[in-house]
Amino acid sequence: DDPALMEERPPVVCVLGHVDHGKTSLLDQIRNAHVVSGEAGGITQHVGAYQVERKGKKITFLDTPGHAAFSKIRERGANVTDIAILVVAADDGFMPQTDEALKFARNANVEIIVAINKMDAKGANIDRVKQQMQERDLMPEDWGGTTLCTPVSALEGTNINELLELVLLQAEVSELKANPKAVAEGVIVESQVEQGRGPTATVIVQKGTLKVGDALVCGPHYCKVRAMMDEHGKPVKSAPPSTPVRIMGWSGTPVSGAVCTVAKNEKAAKAEAEENAQALKARAAAKPAV
Ligand code: GTP
Ligand code: NA
Ligand code: MG
Repeated sequence: DDPALMEERPPVVCVLGHVDHGKTSLLDQIRNAHVVSGEAGGITQHVGAYQVERKGKKITFLDTPGHAAFSKIRERGANVTDIAILVVAADDGFMPQTDEALKFARNANVEIIVAINKMDAKGANIDRVKQQMQERDLMPEDWGGTTLCTPVSALEGTNINELLELVLLQAEVSELKANPKAVAEGVIVESQVEQGRGPTATVIVQKGTLKVGDALVCGPHYCKVRAMMDEHGKPVKSAPPSTPVRIMGWSGTPVSGAVCTVAKNEKAAKAEAEENAQALKARAAAKPAV
């Protein structure tokens, strides 16, 4: 892509960590306190991703915590996440799944920010967590290292803004960019058949700007984009890079992690999808029976 056409885009963030360390509570807290302005009061729907705004800048969160969803996307080769927030409970410290998540994030080459959660809890020991970070080559910035971290309480809503600001800081350092004028491409976050709507899929746009009326191909499926909605169910007409949108008009339910691309028109999209379906069938038939 021509560097002159690249524009700043919001970071895409996921939340990882040990069981019960507060991933869901943190995502809920962020979502409730920082929904994109003007849309508060709307009924929030689960679409697999949402955007918040801090100091005029957007941040996209994958709202399925844990690395199961993340790895499902990664399995298909898509790299949708820029930053992983590693949640570590201040009373427990690093646990086996924290280390597993850390390994995972490092393999995926995403930037890591540590949220030391449950700072309000009895037995919280922030310095011990920082010590454990140091032992894992995650030297905290305030100890002379480069890993951004902050204590938070997802329960009480403490330091959530600080955490969001660290995300924006990391995004700035990473210089995240995309060309909003390229042929649009995105990654499927999740898909489902919705009553009265047929198959729908949440897509995070990675480059270009997706518009209502576009035709998409995603493996054996295609889509004439009939309507797009944000996480509040509000219709949107176009979606620039890093924006999650739920899309209606699919021929089937594409798998999460699959890449979808805009085609010339609906006819071309359908033909391409059929070709992909044939190729998949041929490949399945060629597999020796086990
Ligand atoms: P799994 O999805 O099961 O892995 O858990 P999780 O990481 O999503 O944790 P969850 O948000 O479900 O929180 C687990 C428990 O910790 C709940 O009882 C929360 O109320 C509690 N909890 C979460 N954040 C905090 C916090 O900041 N302080 C305290 N004291 N408790 C918290
Ligand atoms: Na839990
Ligand atoms: Mg959870």
